[in-house]
Amino acid sequence: MEFLPYDRVDPEQVRRLNLLGLGYYLGPERVARMRRLDPRFGGDFALYAVEDGQVLAQTGLLEVTLRTVAGEEKAGALWAVCTLPGHARRGVARALLTEAHRIFTERGYRFSFLTTSRSLVAHHLYRDLGYRDLAPMATAFAPASLKPPDDSWSLTSPGLTPEVAGTAWNIWRDAFRGRLGFVRPRAFLAAAEAGGDLEPQGIRLISRRGQPVGYAFVRSGPAQVRVLELAAPAGVYRDAVLALAGEGPLVMTGLVEGPEVGALRALGFAVLESYGRLMVCCLGGSSEPTLQVEQLLGVEQGRLWLGQLDHT
Ligand SMILES: CC(C)(COP(=O)(O)OP(=O)(O)OC[C@H]1O[C@@H](n2cnc3c(N)ncnc32)[C@H](O)[C@@H]1OP(=O)(O)O)[C@@H](O)C(=O)NCCC(=O)NCCS
Repeated sequence: MEFLPYDRVDPEQVRRLNLLGLGYYLGPERVARMRRLDPRFGGDFALYAVEDGQVLAQTGLLEVTLRTVAGEEKAGALWAVCTLPGHARRGVARALLTEAHRIFTERGYRFSFLTTSRSLVAHHLYRDLGYRDLAPMATAFAPASLKPPDDSWSLTSPGLTPEVAGTAWNIWRDAFRGRLGFVRPRAFLAAAEAGGDLEPQGIRLISRRGQPVGYAFVRSGPAQVRVLELAAPAGVYRDAVLALAGEGPLVMTGLVEGPEVGALRALGFAVLESYGRLMVCCLGGSSEPTLQVEQLLGVEQGRLWLGQLDHT
């Protein structure tokens, strides 16, 4: 078995593998857009286990910038891990991820991150490989009625034009300035759209006196409004939630414990643990860093910020 980056494997086999393993479309034009927009994919984009010319398994490779209490550092992250169903349980994913860790270590990273669901067999694989749960994710369900904020607040659905994406990025940067976690590149939202993680019509700008102060990404269904992410500065977070609640019953997903979750509880939301997990592996085995990753990211203090769109 050999391990090859995206550019050295057959894109058609990659497309089939992703549909079979993840139900995800990863055709060559999507790959090209993702790479063009998001510098975090680096040169390799993804790594493949190949045997006799057949692409058996994939892991995406990402170089993330971590903001920690000790400053910024680069780290690795894995995404879209999958094995061809006909080759499952032969140790292919284990071998592939071990190789990904070797590459990360060679690049000088101390940590590898990923998000997953505890309900998947992949969770066992990751634990076996040395990952541990860093933060559980929660879902918040809105109470039956929420009082709307005063009428200085308004909600618009402008679509994700480059200008709107720029506004949203600025809001995100300002809202979470003191927080720790993954730093988003400027083109983050455009890249998330290219990767199929968000629908351009799902953006809502939340404005006060006509000035956008917050935004949200929603997937609206007949009976609920699923919120992938809501960003607004702490001082107006509560009112921004109330403004968005005008759209329908809110279900906020992928939440990590922090001030926003506290604000939701205070509004009467039921906050329940989900199966979602952010996991971390300390690369290099025994050399556990002086400051544990939990401390570096202020997990206990609620300083870590992670949105559903950061999921790998
Ligand atoms: C998760 C996945 C990539 C594992 O691929 P794989 O090549 O079959 O994995 P391996 O053979 O290397 O297995 C490594 C370990 O994973 C765990 N594992 C894998 N399949 C398992 C299963 N069906 N039941 C329980 N544990 C399982 C075991 O701990 C296994 O070690 P063991 O065989 O020594 O007990 C594969 O099941 C898959 O593609 N699933 C669908 C896509 C997916 O859920 N991806 C993860 C997204 S976060």
